[in-house]
Amino acid sequence: MPKKLAAGNWKMNGLAAELSEIDALTAAHPDPSCDILICPPATLLSRMADRTGGTAIKLGGQDCHEAASGAHTGDVSAPMLADAGASHVILGHSERRADHGETDGLVSAKAGAAAAAGLVPVICVGETLEEREAGETLAIVGRQLRGSVPGALSTLVIAYEPVWAIGTGKVPSIEEIGEVHGFIRAELRGMGAAFDPGATPILYGGSVKPGNAAEIFAVADVDGALVGGASLKASDFSGIIASLEAA
Ligand code: PGA
Repeated sequence: MPKKLAAGNWKMNGLAAELSEIDALTAAHPDPSCDILICPPATLLSRMADRTGGTAIKLGGQDCHEAASGAHTGDVSAPMLADAGASHVILGHSERRADHGETDGLVSAKAGAAAAAGLVPVICVGETLEEREAGETLAIVGRQLRGSVPGALSTLVIAYEPVWAIGTGKVPSIEEIGEVHGFIRAELRGMGAAFDPGATPILYGGSVKPGNAAEIFAVADVDGALVGGASLKASDFSGIIASLEAA
């Protein structure tokens, strides 16, 4: 069974004043039965690491460059994230795919760079509303998985995030979530890769809140969540963590 994971994606939110949220989170979850990951903006990573050392909270980046170093103004590399205290990195988030034109091939290269730096890649896949309405969800998710996940990875996390559910308050039905998560597990098994498909956490992401988390976590092959807006306040994220621990 995969270890359950509650992951928070702060996106482009968070100044020094918000570091108190991490203190509240570590105090509320001294000995959680699931993994807890916060992915703050890169600017807060090392200051957050100073506060989470010796606690159960893990930290991650939100993206990395596919090269370890070099002339890439404005980019952050996987070794830099690891150096700042990260253990994970989100890759291929739909906002990166849409805002920066990231392709499956680039996400795959970044995942390789992350693994080489000792980071666990959290690889995101998910269909747009147009693709869902055209009945293409599984074809799109399957193509993204095959293109974005290097078979040589030994450890990874997958996040299924329907683009139309991110930040909208809209959530797929329980049946729809179950169908895609079951499909992803089967695809991972079919990849014949270095990682263990049965031990790979598959997270659901898109408008997860304290009020809907329990029913989402009850779905087969949902091993946790990637949470945006509701991860910014420790009080909200704690409710989601509690639901995952109880699932
Ligand atoms: P949301 O974002 O929880 O605010 O919908 C999820 C994500 O984009 O990871």
